[in-house]
Amino acid sequence: MSSNRLIIVSNRLPVSLQRRGAGYSVHPSAGGLATSLNALRERMPMLWLGWPGVSVTDPDERRAVASRLVDEFGCIPLFLPQPAFDRYYSGFSNGCLWPLFHYFPQYAHYSEHEWRAYQQVNGLFSEKLLEILQPSDTVWVHDYHLMLLPELVRQARPEATIGFFLHIPFPSYEIFRHLPWRESILRGLLGADLVGFHSFGYVRHFLSSLLRILGLDHEFGRVTLADRQVKADTFPLGVDMARFEAAKDDPGVRQRLEGLRRETAGRKVVLSVDRLDFTKGILQRLRAFEGFLTRFPEWRGKVVLITLCVPSRTRVPEYRALKRQVDELVGRINGRYGQPEWTPIWYLYRFLPFEQLLPLYRLADVALVTPLRDGMNLVAKEYLAARPESTGALVLSETAGSADELGEALIVNPHDEAAIIEALRRALSMSEAEQVDRNTPMLARLRRYNTVRWADDILTELEQARRQRTQRRPRLLHGPLRQELLHGFQHSRSRLLLLDYDGTLVPFKGHPLQAAPDEGLCRILQRLAGRRGNRLVVISGRDAGTLERWLGETGADLVAEHGGSLRRADDSEWKSAADDLPQGWKDEIRPVLQVYADRTPGAEVEQKGLMLVWHYRRAEPELGSLRAKELTDHLEGYVANTPLHVLQGDRVVEIKPSSVSKGKAALAWLSEGTTYDFTLAVGDDVTDEDMFAAMPEDSWTIKVGYGGASGASYLLPGVEAVRQLLDELAGS
Ligand code: ADP
Ligand code: G6P
Repeated sequence: MSSNRLIIVSNRLPVSLQRRGAGYSVHPSAGGLATSLNALRERMPMLWLGWPGVSVTDPDERRAVASRLVDEFGCIPLFLPQPAFDRYYSGFSNGCLWPLFHYFPQYAHYSEHEWRAYQQVNGLFSEKLLEILQPSDTVWVHDYHLMLLPELVRQARPEATIGFFLHIPFPSYEIFRHLPWRESILRGLLGADLVGFHSFGYVRHFLSSLLRILGLDHEFGRVTLADRQVKADTFPLGVDMARFEAAKDDPGVRQRLEGLRRETAGRKVVLSVDRLDFTKGILQRLRAFEGFLTRFPEWRGKVVLITLCVPSRTRVPEYRALKRQVDELVGRINGRYGQPEWTPIWYLYRFLPFEQLLPLYRLADVALVTPLRDGMNLVAKEYLAARPESTGALVLSETAGSADELGEALIVNPHDEAAIIEALRRALSMSEAEQVDRNTPMLARLRRYNTVRWADDILTELEQARRQRTQRRPRLLHGPLRQELLHGFQHSRSRLLLLDYDGTLVPFKGHPLQAAPDEGLCRILQRLAGRRGNRLVVISGRDAGTLERWLGETGADLVAEHGGSLRRADDSEWKSAADDLPQGWKDEIRPVLQVYADRTPGAEVEQKGLMLVWHYRRAEPELGSLRAKELTDHLEGYVANTPLHVLQGDRVVEIKPSSVSKGKAALAWLSEGTTYDFTLAVGDDVTDEDMFAAMPEDSWTIKVGYGGASGASYLLPGVEAVRQLLDELAGS
């Protein structure tokens, strides 16, 4: 982890001020965002910029409050002008973006006035941030309140390292397109190096909106802009397991739990915990509970629903209306079914500190988590985390981001009252053995992918973005540079030309077998290979048979399977690259594969003979391909300078020990005794980087296509440009 400063920017600070008499008291803030990032505070130098939860107008008070927040909490409060703040927070953020992004377009209102306030406040955040920002800092912006901020910072500091994380869903294009300011919002986000989301569905929606609205396509989640790349990816937020584990044996928690057990008098307990928000499905859940009591009278008197709601956004009309509706509904249900010794719904409308929330999680036989839409929903994860013995039944909405990872829960459609009722019945009667069977794998995943891992992954990606920015970039091969190459070729006597095949000599096709060479290409290769002084080698990932069939007559030497076997033009035999088998590498690489499998539901790791294989056939196809690419990139760091190789196959990534790499293959020619006075290597993908690296210092190494860092010195835009160059070399 880098020792550079991390500057977190979010609308709400993790602590909020409350006016108390003449002064202010400080409280932890509610909501997923604040909860999640608090865990990182001890791990790295960190500053947090945001709104302190109240308006402080007196300059002396502001100074006093600011110095207390900085000294005690590492928080820099941003005091915002009240009218603009209201229009930005209650207006645009929570009256437009929040409902729209949660698929409540009917609640979203579009006001130019509020949009301007949103722009203004994002500008104020940017000004404050730029006052403190140093070149070595990493900026991490959070959530929908600040979607313009990445671009504002990028404009002022083009070299800054900026991450953005959206804690709410990114809706489908069909919803997002409603937004009158959709282009500006997308451009704002593209100021970041990395845009993170909780679930792959949100990444897909974001990428599809970029394509449809801004015409920007992507390759494996990377969007290439004129001067840099932006990556969109999935990082499902976990819970702070250490906090839950530390509190496990806390005597206070145990005491409260015993007290609660006495109060519930042996009845089963169903728990729901939310901010009071229309996205959480609170009314639907209450009605389902009522339906449950109606349909299963035998449960009356034997179960209580504890509904804990934390007050939220009370200045927004929809939230005030919801509060009234919840109050009424709870009153009605309790009135209808309550008995002198039994109140069916215990309704608490307040924030509970962790030490009081934990006993509730431990008490509950069932957690009923049925948001209509939720970016992630931490409550579901907290319930599991609070129960290390893996008991309890979790009923979870399929439209919560956490359902992607918590597939063993009882998954329900939150709009389907009958389904909730049935899930509740199953949950209440579930045997302890089944509870443990279901919860154990979920808990294991929560332990592995906790908040710290989540943040580490994101910060590691940002670190990579910083490194790529400072890496050497290939220069476009045109004009005088190209002339220089042609001149060098003509005036040399012994030349080695190493050419990749797919993506370099022929464009990619829908099916690999459609990418056979056309006559024009075969002629160019024949002329090149036939010219005295030339040694032409086609180095491909394809199998030997296909290469021989397609290019066997061109006079080129052939390398198949990324260097696995070689065939000289004057020899009809293929030779296998010699294998030396190293020990212990699997134990080192398996955990890396496991990490990627954890982040990719459906993927798994297999050990197969001498190979390790990462399968993703059962994973969501787009996510699987994205991760496979990423995994391959990642493993390249491990395999450099070792006799191991990484190959992407059909829905698999394989790692095998051998002297197989394009770099090693190139060395077979470079080290055979001929002295070449002109060396050229052309390739388009990551496997060609080995070849570039193996080439002598003064070689012409050419990367085909924009995008991605490369060790090549030069760049050609595509296959067409490569063929033109080769044609000229063949004719000259
Ligand atoms: P959201 O971010 O939309 O509020 P999440 O479920 O992701 O939803 O996060 C809610 C967070 O707020 C959880 O960490 C939960 O423990 C906390 N929380 C919710 N309600 C209460 C409450 N009444 N008292 C204390 N904490 C609460
Ligand atoms: C959700 C949002 C957060 C927000 C929290 C509480 O978790 O994603 O950005 O802070 O709700 O909402 P509030 O409006 O009180 O900050």
